[in-house]
Parts: sequence; C-alpha cells; structure tokens
Amino acid sequence: MNDLTALPHDFLWGAATAAYQIEGAVAEDGRAPSIWDTFSHTPGKVAAGDTGDTACDHYHRWPEDLRLAGQLGLAAYRFSIAWPRVVPQADGRVNQAGLAFYDRLTDALLEAGLTPFPTLYHWDLPQAQQDRGGWPERATAERFAEYAAVVAERLGDRITDWATLNEPLCSAWIGHLDGAMAPGLRDLTAAVRASYHLHLGHGLAVQALRAAVPGARIGIVNNLSPILPASDSAADRAAARRADGHVNRWWLDPIHGRGYPKDMVDLYGVDLPIRPGDLELIAAPLDWLGLNYYFRQHVTADPSGPAPYTRQVPGPNPERTAMGWEVHAPGLEELLLRLTEEYGARRIYVTENGSAYPDSVTADGSIHDAQRARYLEQHLAACASAVAKGAPLAGYFAWSLLDNFEWAYGYEKRFGLVHVDYATQRRTIKASGHRYAELIAEHRNR
Ligand code: IFM
Repeated sequence: MNDLTALPHDFLWGAATAAYQIEGAVAEDGRAPSIWDTFSHTPGKVAAGDTGDTACDHYHRWPEDLRLAGQLGLAAYRFSIAWPRVVPQADGRVNQAGLAFYDRLTDALLEAGLTPFPTLYHWDLPQAQQDRGGWPERATAERFAEYAAVVAERLGDRITDWATLNEPLCSAWIGHLDGAMAPGLRDLTAAVRASYHLHLGHGLAVQALRAAVPGARIGIVNNLSPILPASDSAADRAAARRADGHVNRWWLDPIHGRGYPKDMVDLYGVDLPIRPGDLELIAAPLDWLGLNYYFRQHVTADPSGPAPYTRQVPGPNPERTAMGWEVHAPGLEELLLRLTEEYGARRIYVTENGSAYPDSVTADGSIHDAQRARYLEQHLAACASAVAKGAPLAGYFAWSLLDNFEWAYGYEKRFGLVHVDYATQRRTIKASGHRYAELIAEHRNR
C-alpha cells in the first residue's frame, strides 16, 4: 500500500491552507471585511456561530507554523493571499501593510527552503466588491485582475508558482446557488453569471501574472468528483451526466478551449454574458492543473431542483469521514487519469486532499489519528498508481497543515496534520503528520 516508488524523484511534497481559515487578525493592518466575515457573523450561517476572527492566529504565529511545516519535511507550502488585506476597499487603493505580510511570509518560506505556492483567491471576496455586485458582475473579474497584478509585481521576483482561483465551483454553486457559503445566495442566474466571471477573472489574472512575472508557472485549482448513477435506470444515468456537467465539465471545458458544455448551458437556461475575446482569455494556456479531491458522488434524479436536478445518495461503501464524505481513494486515480487522457494535462498537482475525523487528545497530549494516516496512505498510493499509468503528477499538498475554520462547519471539523487547541493556540503534530513526514523522508531517501 505504501509503495510510492512510481512518484517522480522531484515530487513536490506540500501542505495547504487558506487565508480566512487560519489567519485571524481580521481587522489588523488595514484589512477590511470579506464576504466570509459578513457571512460568518450572520446568525445561523456557521455551526456554533464560529467566525474566522481569530482562527489559528496564523497572522501572528506564522513563524511557528513554518517551523512545523519544516518539521514535517515539506518542500512546498500552499497558502492563499487575502484580497481584502491587499486591496481592501472598492477604490482600488493598495494596502501596503497587508501586502507586507505576504512579503515577510514569502521571504521566510524561501529562507526555510519551502517553495511558496500561493493562490490568489480562496473565497474571501472583499465585501466592498460584493456591495458592487460581486462575482455576478463583470467588473469583479476586472478588479480581481488588478489585484493579481499588484500581488505579482510585489512578490513575482521570488514566487514562480501561482494559482489563480481555488475551487470556483464552491464560490459559484455553493455560494450563489445552494446558499451554504458566502455570499449565501440561492439564485441560478447569479450563480451562472458568477461562474462565468470567475473564469473570466482567472483568464485576466493569468494575463496579469504573465505580464508581471516572466517564467511564472500558473495554474487553477478545481475540486472534481467522479460521478456514478445511483442505479442503472435511464433517469439515474441521465442524472449522472448532468451532475458530471455541473461538477466537472463546466469547470474544465472552458479553460481547455472547449467553451461551456452545451447540455449544461441549455439546462441552466441562463444567457452567458460572453464578449468577443472572452473565451480565448478564459482558455489562456496554463502550466499546470490543480486537483482537489475529497469524494466521489452517487447521484439520482431530483426534479425538485435546484439545477442540475440531481441529489447525492449514499453509495454502498459505508466508510465515511466526519464530513460524511465517502472514503474512496481510487476516485483520485480516476480523476488524475481523466485529466490526463480526456483533457491532455501535461502537469498536475493534487492541490488538496485530506480528511476530517473527530480527534481526541490523550493525557500525554498526543493525537493518535490512525484513520487520517490511513486515508493519507491510501490516497498517496492512488497517486502513485496514476503516475504508473501515465498521469503527469508533479506534487501533492495535504489538506491541511493545521486544523482550521472549516467554513460553514466552523471549528468542529478538523482536517489538520497539526492539531490546534483553539483555547491556547497550542499546536501539536498528530500521528498522521508524523506518518506524512515518514513517507516524505522514505520517498526522498530511496
Ligand atoms: O477546507 C476546505 C478548503 O478550503 C477547500 N477545499 C475543501 C476543504 C475541506 O472542505
């Protein structure tokens, strides 16, 4: 199970985090609220009324967090840059103090021998942009590219690897259609328009990055799921096709120059606000694809909606994480091969993969999270198997370096390789973190 020999010698071992989930310090050094500050402070939106106000206090404790990353033997650290720290207001003014935080972080990462792997947008749209219409409006894509240019000009002399968006599916579908994430809308037209402008913002940001950082290696991070029909009925098979369009093809086809899948455009029935040249921008060549993998989906038809008129049902495998997500490592291999064979990927990173389990801290302070360690081993084995079959997988980022604010689930769900005691902010490497360090060391020294 732990035969990782197929992974390339220069495989990039990493862990990932995101700004709002760990930083805290929401009102410090000129940061203004994002849609997640607004959403988490709205009663009833987040479990237990949790917010990212303090989170892991990473804004102050980042030196310790980088030391922990070093102890795990990581070669790369994936983090996100908070737009509301860098360009907090609608007037476009750059907040130098906010930018300086990422400047310090970048220098420290490089000094520690860790490759910085930033994402420009991990869901924390400045509230000021939301007040002007947010992602359903074209102007937000343009503002995003301006912010990307500011960051690239400041950090591009030291950072080569850049991701534009993290999981635009969640921003568009969960944020604007299901309402379970910020900004909490339930409006198909807004959701489809948001998806389009996220893609456009991505394309414009690629342009800005290329202009500011010669030699930049740029990618986008999508969360994808293999989709299976709940039964062999024609209705369930059609539902699976629709769900695949909603979850996978909508996010992959346009960035590969294939436009938006026609079956889904027809299904949504929302006019895409395409202007001449947009589709080419959206399909700007990338250097890599980021894949976030957590679960596959079994789906059945659900005419009561919302789009795509499907509903997830439990599959036959009873093994689940604390999120209720099925544990199914072969799904990761399947997606890596799909990106390779169907989309011609030339370089892929698993930019997130991990599991939440209810950890308990023993009397001696240690955390024996055997399930998480096993999950990690199984999914890394799936990566190795995909590589053996030809997938150009170049690295893996465990989600997450630290326990953190799990969006609408608050702090109850823990994904970290490092446990965080939120009362004291004490960090403790879990057994899964030690296991990850061991696997990394074995692979390096083989
Ligand atoms: O915590 C999230 C992360 O922000 C995006 N990908 C999925 C993770 C687990 O839900």
